[in-house]
Formats: sequence, C-alpha cells, structure tokens
Amino acid sequence: MADVSTLPNGLTVAYDEVGAGFPFVLLHGFPHNRSLWAPQTSALIEHGRCIAPDLRGFGESGREGPYSMEQYAEDVVGLLENLGIERAVVGGLSMGGYVTFAIWRAKPQLVRALVLADTRPGADSPETRRKRLELIALARESGPGAVANAQISGMVGATTRAQNPALVNGLHQMLAGAPVEGIIGALQAMMDRRDSTELLPTIDVPTLIIVGEEDALTPVKESRAMHAAIPGSRLEVIPGAGHCSNLEKPAAFNHVLGEFLSALNYA
Ligand code: MLT
Repeated sequence: MADVSTLPNGLTVAYDEVGAGFPFVLLHGFPHNRSLWAPQTSALIEHGRCIAPDLRGFGESGREGPYSMEQYAEDVVGLLENLGIERAVVGGLSMGGYVTFAIWRAKPQLVRALVLADTRPGADSPETRRKRLELIALARESGPGAVANAQISGMVGATTRAQNPALVNGLHQMLAGAPVEGIIGALQAMMDRRDSTELLPTIDVPTLIIVGEEDALTPVKESRAMHAAIPGSRLEVIPGAGHCSNLEKPAAFNHVLGEFLSALNYA
C-alpha cells in the first residue's frame, strides 16, 4: 500500500518508499504511475532511500489541476520537503525526465545528482503538439483504454514486443488504468513545456543518462546529444530495450543505476 502525504498546496501524493540512507527519487513517465519503478524500488534498496511518487493525476495521487511541468516539479519538491529531505538524487523516465529538468531549473540546490532515462530536453514540435491534441480528443471521447491502445506499441522496443507479451500486457493495463484527468493534464503540460536544452550546460552535478537502444519515442540520438551537452555526464545504452528501458531490461538498468548511486560521494 502507498504512503500518502498532503502537500502545502493541498495535493495528496501517493508514493512508495523503501530503504534508508541518501534519498533518490524516481519519476514515472506518461501515462504511467509509480508502479513503473517496481523493478528498481525492490532491487536498489541497498543503495539508499528510494522514493517513487505518483505524479499529480496518476495512480493514487490527487487529480485536481493546474497541470504544468512547473506544477509537477513543485509537487515533487513539496513531497521531499514534507519528508524532511533537503537534497536528493532526482531521476525521471521520459515525462518524468521533463519534470526532472523543471526541478533542476527551479531548485538546483535540491539536486545531488540526476538520472535522465529515455527522455529529451527539447520542447514539443508543432507536429507533436498536433498529435497531443488528437490524443486529448481521444481521451475525452473514448477514455484511457483507447489512449493505451494508441500508446502501447511505442512504449517498448521490438525485442520486448516479440519476446515478452506478458510485460506488454502488464504495461497496457497500467496505461489503461490512468485517470482521464491525469492524461489530459499531462498532455497539456507536455505541450506547454519549456525547452530545457539551454539548461544542459548548467548541469554541474553527476548525471547518468540511460536509454533503450530500441527507443522509438526518445531515440538514442537525443541521449547522445544530451550526453555531449552535459559536462561529465555518463551515457548508458541498454541493448534489447525500448522506451521503458527500466521495465524491459531491469537487470541492466539496475546495474548501471546501482553503480552510479554507489559511486556518488554522499558526504
Ligand atoms: C512518456 O513516456 O512519458 C511519453 O512518451 C513522453 C512524451 O510523450 O513526450
């Protein structure tokens, strides 16, 4: 069962917390929930205090607006403050990465290190914005199941699609269970998000970039460009994984994340 925290802004946030020691927070993508990180929260327990929240509108967190990357960032910062955490490793996958950039922009002093998984720094192109509007209409007219049907094939790589139908079905269930308010709010927040490319050279904390080799939504070339722009960053490309690299190849993902966390000097 989730832990629950009520933020100063009134939002109720559900989160999983395991382990002890230095905190690291993991932010899910769209339209996921905190269970995306189940393969990490269980395996990385010896590396610190892992906190995986449901972002506003997803899982068991409150669904009221407003929705924006800045609002998600404020929610995560509020949760960490409620938990008495002054500094944490902050990581996110895809949309969780967009939130991670917003946290870096708003409160860099909170960030001990960054993990950017299957994400990109850029804002939406006009074509992507058009697709998001179509997805908003689909969510309104046909509900989360239709959004899940539209999204599922891009969520995983060809290897997973061919070899692991159980994983694809489980992920489809997660997507189809997303609340419609959260789906629409997140799509609007992603459409309106700022371009974070100019932030990359300002990142002066250890940064791990992870991407599935078969990621079609945030392709490897985006991660290579981030790696080139973030001083001293480390890039890991996970073979046989697509967009949800942490779910598709958990052992490889946990190996690089665990190594990164244990190499940090927590003093
Ligand atoms: C995600 O997984 O969070 C989404 O694919 C991000 C996006 O649509 O830009």
